[in-house]
Amino acid sequence: MATEQRTSHTVHDHNPQMQHGGPDPDDSPSSPDTAPIFSELVATRLSRRSVLSGSLATAAVFLAPGAAAAANGNGHALANGHRHRGRRAPLGFASIAADTTDEISLPTGYSSSILIPWGEPILAPFPAWVPDASNSAADQAKQLGMGHDGMHFFPIDGSSEHGLLVLNHEFTIDSQLFVDGTANWDADKTAKSQNAHGVAVVEIQLGTSGWEVVRPSAYNRRVTANTPMTASGPAAGHRLFQTGYDPSGLHLLGTANNCAHGVTPWGTYVTCEENANGYFHRNGAETADQAALLDRYGYSATGFGYRWATTDPRFNTGVEPNEPNRFHWVVEIDPFDPTSTPVKRTALGRFKHESAAVTTARNNRVVVYSGDDERFDHIYKFVGNRPWQSYQHGTSPLDDGTLYTAVFHEDGAGHWEPLTLGNPALAGAFADMGELLVKTRMAADMVGATRMDRPEWIAVDPRTCDVYCTCTNNSRRTTPDPMNPVAPNFNGHIIRWTEAGGDNGALTFDWDVLLVAGEHPYDPDGVQNVSDVGFGSPDGLWFDPDGRLWIQTDGGQPIDSNDQMLAIDPDTGDLRRFLVGVPECEVTGMVMTPDQRTLFVNIQHPGDDGGSDWPDQVGGLPRAATVVVTKDDGGVIGT
Ligand code: FEO
Ligand code: CA
Ligand code: CA
Repeated sequence: MATEQRTSHTVHDHNPQMQHGGPDPDDSPSSPDTAPIFSELVATRLSRRSVLSGSLATAAVFLAPGAAAAANGNGHALANGHRHRGRRAPLGFASIAADTTDEISLPTGYSSSILIPWGEPILAPFPAWVPDASNSAADQAKQLGMGHDGMHFFPIDGSSEHGLLVLNHEFTIDSQLFVDGTANWDADKTAKSQNAHGVAVVEIQLGTSGWEVVRPSAYNRRVTANTPMTASGPAAGHRLFQTGYDPSGLHLLGTANNCAHGVTPWGTYVTCEENANGYFHRNGAETADQAALLDRYGYSATGFGYRWATTDPRFNTGVEPNEPNRFHWVVEIDPFDPTSTPVKRTALGRFKHESAAVTTARNNRVVVYSGDDERFDHIYKFVGNRPWQSYQHGTSPLDDGTLYTAVFHEDGAGHWEPLTLGNPALAGAFADMGELLVKTRMAADMVGATRMDRPEWIAVDPRTCDVYCTCTNNSRRTTPDPMNPVAPNFNGHIIRWTEAGGDNGALTFDWDVLLVAGEHPYDPDGVQNVSDVGFGSPDGLWFDPDGRLWIQTDGGQPIDSNDQMLAIDPDTGDLRRFLVGVPECEVTGMVMTPDQRTLFVNIQHPGDDGGSDWPDQVGGLPRAATVVVTKDDGGVIGT
């Protein structure tokens, strides 16, 4: 039933920079193989389906009273009041065929247009994008960056026709960023590459000819790899945060490799620093402690082939051994205040944060779920101490709580291990919480966190509070276990769990695998979700407010197809293909306007091997871009 062979299709995993000069960042698993290997146990596995159906029924009884409305009404930040709002909406479109064309494919009755490709000017003096990539570093700082990824629409005054689109620029393809590629590298090239990273805040409105950028705008902003920022929480100012140019450990510079994201109930954007190790050159003498830390976070002599370190010494670990410790965090940005200082929230842990799915627990404590996207790495959640509304100005709910890591039991149960100094498994291992958090991965290893197949995005069902996580693939898995049931896992799977009592702050849960991806996606319990809609390497994951689960892919597909976007009814297993991207792209990042009549989708790294000139299609450079999808009858997307 399962198809475990990938086609001869080129694998286009995230960070194509690595394919142009460096190793795959995920080819070097660094999680020590000492955590429990559950498959060594003799499992008498309960039928997850029957266990879950019982706990789901129980969960419905324990609904918390309504909390604040979800931030901006479109379902990213979920509050208790949004749970169990009637029946889950069915999928109303016909699944489309897979394809390999150099255009965006959609179901009949849907149309797309292009908004904000790489190079789109958003800040004065609005330098026009030059098709031969000859824009300067200064120009790039005023333009959209490359590598569009996680994204959210913040409405202005609740509008579905006017708001701020905030998106990550995960990485650059430096061979396409310059007229002469990576030749003749100098400080200007480093600056342009750094300016094409980070985050963009773009005011957009629906005009007579479609969505357009507002310019000038009081909101438009670029955050780059050099934007001044600060840190909060236990690691802020820690000795492991102090550098030669910042002895305080509080004056940080920039964010990098921003993958997915989250939205807080108080209306801020949180962006995740994933493979920041790719920008550093590991160089110089190291203490044993430094070496162990750099090893565990995947640092190498040449990173992913980026050359920043050759002109910017802060990316040379021999010069600034603590600079890596200031990356791999979740960064909070207030999109409505372009003068605000972004803050790295260290209480949420340091690892290759793929996403930060924000929700609330019973009593309105904030909960943030994150995957650590590396082969055999872990899933985490942060649970706040008090109702998020109770924090005074100048304090943050994201600084006051406990970080946990997930331990999936082979029998279908699971629990959250606290990463605290008081956890007996961590006794004496860390001097203080600052050190523990800088070394989050090591702490998780020590408490027996489950070694997963590259956890990517996490999404919380607005109806049930169930949590879903894409495990994108793991070609190095040799032994399957119930949580990661395929070895090697070329096509990935989606796991989900129900927290005890339906409370996302709970410390125990039940889990099952929603599906294993492949040519014929299947339920490993063999009960349902059998589908002939083939896909592989699930990555982006998002619930719309009506409970449809949207899946985006990043990697070689098990069928002859470009990367794609699908939707599934997680109750029935009805799976349909909605969008097919262009050659060599990744489809990642999605959000709808509050009325659900506009869908924004990001197409990342099209043609990174030369197989596409989308979206301009004039034989020039391909460009990452945001695609606007609407229904021709003006209806709700997905119906
Ligand atoms: Fe940036 Fe794991 O995707
Ligand atoms: Ca990916
Ligand atoms: Ca991803």
